[in-house]
Amino acid sequence: MARETTFSIIKPNAVKKNVIGPIIQLFEKNGLQVAAMKLSKIEKVQCEEFYAEHRARPFFGELVSFMTSGPVVLMALAGENAVTRNRELMGATDPKKAAPGTIRALYGDSVGENSVHGSDSAASAERELKIFFTAKEFANP
Ligand code: RTP
Ligand code: MG
Repeated sequence: MARETTFSIIKPNAVKKNVIGPIIQLFEKNGLQVAAMKLSKIEKVQCEEFYAEHRARPFFGELVSFMTSGPVVLMALAGENAVTRNRELMGATDPKKAAPGTIRALYGDSVGENSVHGSDSAASAERELKIFFTAKEFANP
């Protein structure tokens, strides 16, 4: 197994619900360590760059509008197989289809407002982390 770093966002609906703590606790209990973190509102331009692969999708406008609607928690998570482990902990995109006990099953409200984002590959993680963090902001580079 390889030690990796992945990128995670606690989305505006979960921040509003005051469940930052339980979500981070779930990561920590399952072998992921916070290596960088900030609470911030995302700029529209930055959000559009982040979700560039979805630009042509019908839900793109709604997605960007939701993700810039309030503060989010931006995190780098480090650990063994961090990318896959994080995706397993998150559960399926649609909270109704997410396995019991996963973050989206516990805190997701809808497909759009599904409480967390996680990179889908090591390459995506590298690209996404660069959008939101500078090298100096990493506690465990
Ligand atoms: P994420 O990127 O946020 O970790 O989620 P994911 O890989 O499970 O899903 P993805 O296909 O990459 O979609 C990105 C985000 O777009 C929103 N979405 N809305 N209304 C819709 O049909 C729809 N489909 C996707 C979700 O918030 C999803 O997390
Ligand atoms: Mg995705």
